[in-house]
Amino acid sequence: MLTMKNVIREGHPALRKRAEEVVIPPSPEDQQTLKEMMEFLLHSQEPETAEKYDLRPGVGLAAPQINVSKRMIAVRVTDHNDELIDIGLYNPKIISHSIETTYLENGEGCLSVDRDVPGIVPRYSRIKVEGVSHEGETVRMRLKGLPAIVFQHEIDHLNGIMFYDRIEEDDPYKQPLPPNEIIKRNDFDGPFT
Ligand code: NI
Repeated sequence: MLTMKNVIREGHPALRKRAEEVVIPPSPEDQQTLKEMMEFLLHSQEPETAEKYDLRPGVGLAAPQINVSKRMIAVRVTDHNDELIDIGLYNPKIISHSIETTYLENGEGCLSVDRDVPGIVPRYSRIKVEGVSHEGETVRMRLKGLPAIVFQHEIDHLNGIMFYDRIEEDDPYKQPLPPNEIIKRNDFDGPFT
């Protein structure tokens, strides 16, 4: 099983590379990797397992974070209706997005970043994501709120982008545009992606 020992940290060059497309249908090796990524998130959210293996709770994980430079992400997060989104995707991409932006009021965290980086990370409020599921089917998902933020964070990892790249350096709490359509969320300040 994957543990925090498998998670590479900022400074590792693999986090800055553009990850390779996964050949579809995915190889057994890629399928195994994605399955382990999904299991990692599950384990990290089970308090007893997380404590036993010293896992930081995570709601998302991208393959480059375990030093596999391929376009694979796992997400396990509840949406605004308290419904669990538990999915692994190959070659996810954002096919459309809102103009409106959003951000987590308490900033973002990352399993690959062992420090707090305060500041506003602007994200699209709503996105449509297309990818190939673990079962090999093309899926399209409409996402908003926290799940939309998590998917954007993970897809950024596939492009070598860290969340703090999006924080305004000179003014970390600068309100993103458009200024009148910001949705703040303050009900999420724990887990990492
Ligand atoms: Ni991350």
